Amino acid sequence: MSENNLYQAYTEALGPKRTRALLLNHDYWQENIQQILKRAGQKKIRIATKSVRSCELLKEVLNSSSQFQGLMTYTLAESLWLREKGFKDLLLGYPIWDLEALERLAKNPQDITLMVDRLEHLKLLQLYAERFNTKFTLCLDIDLSLDLPGLRFGVFRSSVQEDTQLKALVDYLQEHARHLELVGVMGYEAQIAGVADKGKPLIKLLKLRSISQLRKRREKIVKTLKDLGFPLRFVNGGGTGSLESTSLESCVSEVTVGSGFYGPKLFDGYTQFSIKPALTFCLPIVRNPAPSIYTCHGGGYVASGMSGVDRLPSPYLPQGVKLLSFEGAGEVQTPVQSTTSLSLGAPLFFRHAKAGEICEHFHEIHIFKNQLITHDVKTYRGEGQCFL
Ligand SMILES: Cc1ncc(COP(=O)(O)O)c(C=O)c1O
Repeated sequence: MSENNLYQAYTEALGPKRTRALLLNHDYWQENIQQILKRAGQKKIRIATKSVRSCELLKEVLNSSSQFQGLMTYTLAESLWLREKGFKDLLLGYPIWDLEALERLAKNPQDITLMVDRLEHLKLLQLYAERFNTKFTLCLDIDLSLDLPGLRFGVFRSSVQEDTQLKALVDYLQEHARHLELVGVMGYEAQIAGVADKGKPLIKLLKLRSISQLRKRREKIVKTLKDLGFPLRFVNGGGTGSLESTSLESCVSEVTVGSGFYGPKLFDGYTQFSIKPALTFCLPIVRNPAPSIYTCHGGGYVASGMSGVDRLPSPYLPQGVKLLSFEGAGEVQTPVQSTTSLSLGAPLFFRHAKAGEICEHFHEIHIFKNQLITHDVKTYRGEGQCFL
């Protein structure tokens, strides 16, 4: 379907009552699921919940193929909530310091694995495990960034880069094996998975160099831990943008994917794949302050990360609409310039820069299938939850 026809179809399907809405094109969503399955090769796929933020859609992905197994969650309160709803195999992708939730977990640690990379994390967890006479399962986060003179090609997350840095952690784990059990290793190569490279030869070169380095590093750390007697159940790696390279690593047992389902704008610029823009939001036009300038109600849904124009929502449908550089996307109003004539009350569709964050601004997602809105699914926010 051409983009103009898509605009008509979305507008008619939503109807006049729903002028501010979040819409999921179900055909595109399914195409994205199929593409992820293909790109992940033989690896199991863990779903990054932060990039989906809807229980019904998480279930839909899990039920679509047995290759999807488990979730990567982003807070402990969220993990506990998802477990209550029946989700299993929850790997909390980030270290936490939420003592109230930790106490709740200590009373029943089943199905949730915690992330660690420092001795301080281990000491905190040991304290709670001992107090509640229980055992936590843990995953070690390792750093996979490439350090060059004056440049870190990667992110600052884990403090563990080399197997030589494992000693203090390993000694502590061995000493406290009654309460702490290391079951997995995770390394997230953000500089491969989250950095677009289309038309950027220098980035491509850096990626190639980084991939060959991080492969060796991950393999060495995993081997060291196994040699020391830790029977690892999984080795997790990657994200939407790195499936091709992460899935080739023999020591990796599973890859993580989140953003690839919705297909946000920041994932347009990759050489090795292209994702369908499945999730879009629309806002009503409420003003026409000058010829070819239209103002939408709302719109300031700016994505996290280093601030810049690429973090703003992008006008998507109809074609020929752009934000104004001196106004951007506003808290209550967003003026745009359009090459075609539009009318007050008409919707304008946008794409968010990232995947799950937009769900914090909407209670439900309207599912667009066979030219109709067939049903709605709730976002986390629509279920009254707000985790970060
Ligand atoms: C630990 C970890 N794994 C995987 C991912 C990949 O998520 P996505 O596929 O949404 O980019 C992320 C994203 O930030 C992450 O933090």
